[in-house]
Amino acid sequence: MKVLHVAAEVFPLVKVGGLADVVAALPVALAEQGADVRLLLPGLPAVMDGVQHARTIIDIGACFGALRVRLLLARMPGSRLPVYVIDAPYLYRRQGGPYQDRNGDEWPDNLQRFALLGWVAAHLAADDADPQWSADVVHAHDWHAAMACAYVADHTPSEAATIFTIHNLAFQGLFPLHDWPLLGLASRLMSPAGLEFHGQLSFMKAGLKFADRVTTVSPRYAQEIATHEFGFGLEGVIRGRDGDVRGILNGIDAALWNPATDPAIAVRYDAERLDGKLACRRALQAELGLDADDDALLLTVVSRLTVQKGLDLVLTALPDLLRDGVQCVVQGTGEPALEAAFRMAQQAHPGRVHVHIGYDEARAHRLIAGADVIAVPSRFEPCGLTQMYGLRYGTLPIVRRVGGLADTVVDVADGAGGADGADDLTNGFVFDAATAAAFEHCVRRALALRRDPLAWQQLMRRAMAKPLSWAGPARDYLDLYAHALGVVRQPPVNGQ
Ligand code: ADP
Ligand code: GLC
Repeated sequence: MKVLHVAAEVFPLVKVGGLADVVAALPVALAEQGADVRLLLPGLPAVMDGVQHARTIIDIGACFGALRVRLLLARMPGSRLPVYVIDAPYLYRRQGGPYQDRNGDEWPDNLQRFALLGWVAAHLAADDADPQWSADVVHAHDWHAAMACAYVADHTPSEAATIFTIHNLAFQGLFPLHDWPLLGLASRLMSPAGLEFHGQLSFMKAGLKFADRVTTVSPRYAQEIATHEFGFGLEGVIRGRDGDVRGILNGIDAALWNPATDPAIAVRYDAERLDGKLACRRALQAELGLDADDDALLLTVVSRLTVQKGLDLVLTALPDLLRDGVQCVVQGTGEPALEAAFRMAQQAHPGRVHVHIGYDEARAHRLIAGADVIAVPSRFEPCGLTQMYGLRYGTLPIVRRVGGLADTVVDVADGAGGADGADDLTNGFVFDAATAAAFEHCVRRALALRRDPLAWQQLMRRAMAKPLSWAGPARDYLDLYAHALGVVRQPPVNGQ
């Protein structure tokens, strides 16, 4: 089965969030299970510089406002996965982020930049881009790649199946309706039954409407987005797809996130050698100038600093928690008000709070290895990866009961409690209300449990034993691809 993954981010070349981690790891896991997998990426500067052995497959020429567009085939560094790259200097070669310029403003030509991505994907599925390879399945990630589903649907002879994965429904790719002619799509697709969404064009809706199958990155998020609270106005469209929407929980890259082999951390450890974790904790306190306090509950946050992540709850609860024995280490970037508030917290509590406003992969590993608990108090969370990294490192998650957080963390109080503890899946702390009081109460439960070192270690070992690799999810995706292909390629009934 030939599968094309289409996305705007991939670790380690371009990363804004967890999407990049998924796009790096899932295709490799699929390839390990026998699929013939390739990636398609826009030729952002870091992609052009980072891929290896690039050669031109086809000179596309002028399109979507760019004069010179070429399709390259290269290899990903590390995994060596084949990767198609769209080299369109006019659209992609610029300093700034993949979606925004340096001031945080959306690139004004995002419609063309991401329509081109979907359009090339459709050609790679229609047998006319690369004479050596064409996709049976096009798997598009988030709104950036969603137009692939519309372009494939608009090309009736196409036999490819399309899968659209929602990583975050909050970002939808909305554009003025009058830009419609730039897309070059049949007019039937412009209606409210197609891409039109409250007087705008919605790329997200292109994926939701035209993909053969829609997935979310956790089962619970699949249910949540069918409701008004989490649907961002698209809940009706999602309900309309009914049985076609399904959640497949993300995995993590178990080689990259492994405390037994992690080159970034002070001392390597595993469930049998937990003293290494204590060494990481002390090394972190020393590195960050925190009090060398073995009794503190060392709480970390590694996150985008946005409303989604609920970090205002942490800020509000912090003074009381610090008084009662919590130390707090934060690393993140995002909204200026949250960045400033965390900086102020550090100034107000030297030795107890450390804040790093910035992005640093190796440092994230040290924080997660050194902390006792990792807080993810999100308002909504399609999957969330850091709580899973925490589990793998024996750093117990404190999470809100939403989305993938609820699907991965089982509260200590919810143990099945079989006589031998065999069915006990508890591995962290979960709270419900999106309030500082609920968060604070939850952290206090962790503080109390940590006073019982044996119970704490048992919980750590259970957390570390949870299977989180991509092997299971990759099998689920392969099943889904086979089903979707079966439907797309079904022989017509009664010769129709
Ligand atoms: P989201 O994609 O919504 O941001 P996830 O938990 O799925 O949330 O993924 C976030 C990813 O980004 C994780 O790999 C996390 O370690 C990483 N990350 C977030 N902020 C930082 C930071 N400041 N420094 C290093 N890594 C970060
Ligand atoms: C999104 C979501 C996050 C998820 C990630 C990877 O960025 O916000 O919850 O883990 O995608 O699927």
